[in-house]
Amino acid sequence: MRYATRREGGVEGLNCDPKHEDTRVLCLFFSVGTGIAPTFGEVLRGKARPRRVPGRSIAPSSILYQEGNSMARIGIFFGTTSGNTRKVAKMIKKKFDDETMAKPLNVNRVSADDIAGYDYLIFGTPTMGSGQLPGLSADCEEESWEEFMPTLEEVDFSGKTVALYGLGDQVGYPDEFVDALMEIHDVVTDRGGRVVGSWPTEGYTFNSSQAVVDGAFVGLVLDQDNQSDQTEARLEQWLKQIAPDFDLPV
Ligand SMILES: Cc1cc2nc3c(=O)[nH]c(=O)nc-3n(C[C@H](O)[C@H](O)[C@H](O)COP(=O)(O)O)c2cc1C
Repeated sequence: MRYATRREGGVEGLNCDPKHEDTRVLCLFFSVGTGIAPTFGEVLRGKARPRRVPGRSIAPSSILYQEGNSMARIGIFFGTTSGNTRKVAKMIKKKFDDETMAKPLNVNRVSADDIAGYDYLIFGTPTMGSGQLPGLSADCEEESWEEFMPTLEEVDFSGKTVALYGLGDQVGYPDEFVDALMEIHDVVTDRGGRVVGSWPTEGYTFNSSQAVVDGAFVGLVLDQDNQSDQTEARLEQWLKQIAPDFDLPV
């Protein structure tokens, strides 16, 4: 049998040890079948992650993780400008093992298939500009949720359970407090998803928010600018609240 080499077939970073028959076959399966290359170490540990290969289409995550490769039950995806929303994603992930929750991923580097592979999802976003999703038109340096929205709209959310968290600044932006949360909420529900984890508005001071429905935020709201000391407790409380919907051991 010929072995896949590091750059064969346009696959960058493929690292198969020819001494190992099983991993060799696995690597070939990944690289030829999907155009996505895990590293040898990832394959060995059963933690192969999809990586885009230029010029090759990305395969559904479900293909990547079947046949004994473990995939976390819950996917967690965020956008960020200065790191606050990533930090919260990491705080959430830290509370669960790898079978329960995947490593948080920035939406500026994922595909619709990465989202579609999960029945349980957590999405996090800051609000930027003037009540906008982070992205270029909100003067952010990098693409983010704004640019990802057309891709999100490709996902069929029917049968999926989604929880949202949003970061904002109630003092600096009291009239557009965490508005962006609602944009993600609307795409998920329009595409058939079930959003859980609404959060009381008590404890925040603001004039107006698009993210309030029937007197509650549509997801957990955190304000790292003014109430960072409350973040950990709010997170704990929210995770307990969504635990039954996500079958979480909290
Ligand atoms: C330029 C700019 C615009 C912002 N606009 C809003 C806004 O409209 N509404 C809001 O609630 N927060 C707003 N914020 C606050 C951010 O959402 C908040 O600082 C958040 O923690 C940033 O998260 P990140 O580090 O993940 O990007 C804005 C912050 C900046 C710097």
